[in-house]
Amino acid sequence: MVEERYIFNQQGKEIKRGEVTWKSPSNIALVKYWGKKQNQIPANPSISFTLNNCHTLTTVKYEQAAEPSFMVFVDGKREEGFEPKIATFFKRIAQYVPFVNALKLEIHTKNTFPHSSGIASSASGLSALALCVVSIEKALTPSMKASYFKEKASFLARLGSGSACRSIYPELVVWGDNKSFEGSSDIVAVPFKGAHQVFKDFQDTILLVDKGQKVVSSTVGHNLMHNHPFSEQRFAQAHDNMERLKLALEEGDLKTFTKIVESEALTLHAMMMTSNPYFILMKPNTLNIIEKVWEYREKHQLNLTITLDAGANVHLLYPKNEAEQAMQLIKGTLVDFCENKGYICDEVGIGSEEIVN
Ligand code: PMV
Repeated sequence: MVEERYIFNQQGKEIKRGEVTWKSPSNIALVKYWGKKQNQIPANPSISFTLNNCHTLTTVKYEQAAEPSFMVFVDGKREEGFEPKIATFFKRIAQYVPFVNALKLEIHTKNTFPHSSGIASSASGLSALALCVVSIEKALTPSMKASYFKEKASFLARLGSGSACRSIYPELVVWGDNKSFEGSSDIVAVPFKGAHQVFKDFQDTILLVDKGQKVVSSTVGHNLMHNHPFSEQRFAQAHDNMERLKLALEEGDLKTFTKIVESEALTLHAMMMTSNPYFILMKPNTLNIIEKVWEYREKHQLNLTITLDAGANVHLLYPKNEAEQAMQLIKGTLVDFCENKGYICDEVGIGSEEIVN
């Protein structure tokens, strides 16, 4: 379905040569998006923390050209390997931003997290690129409202990589139509502003269990939710968890937060293990970490919470006032289960930001 609201309709305007830069973060889902319909429409709603330190910085240099073209540079080096994915993205968004077909682009991008960390860069990377494209549109339509700007960036980012649409906004972000969050939508993400203070500076330490390439991509994983024996129950459960998590977020109820978030992470992986064909992305050390966290949490009466994305790494979430004890566990025990003792300290962040030189 074509979304008229996001079609740029002032074709023919002369585009001056220019340059735009955006910084956009990664995000970690609390209720997971797993399974999609056509055109990147999620099969169930999701909510995530926007991160801060793990982000992508992208500069797009543009000028009008008779033939459209683009080149991608990562850390200053031409990366032709990235270009097919970007070409697909441009193809998907062209009907909404037709001016991209009259541009010669140079895309310069870098991540703050190591490319080989096993952390997906598609959420931060595609949201940063979508924001740059909307900045070019804004140069052609200076009257564009700030709220429409973010909405359109979220819309375009979604067409690149579903979860990327959530990275546009700060703190807690909802994507996918559901009755508990007013204004929620399948086609754009919306910020959730009603959370308790304790979630404003929640910490996320990413324990790098396996830095290698995933054996099954998330695209393949999403598709395996079609004809999955448990898909309908799973999608219904996600709606239910959204409703329960909303209450916990509003009330600062950390115990319920932990129960829902951990159940979501394990359900995501249970869906992978019960797909046809089945697959496992967790590694032995993923489970070792989970066991140690649960033991330590019980012993010290803490709120350390684990979650997983589509990979073996463990995200350890905790309120800031438990950071000292969490770091003791991480440095004293958990690093031994990480590849080269690697981990990344992150926290809830302010979302995407334009960098003006
Ligand atoms: O945005 P994608 O297609 O890479 O899928 C992301 C899927 C999960 O990270 C597992 C869950 C989520 O909601 O981010």
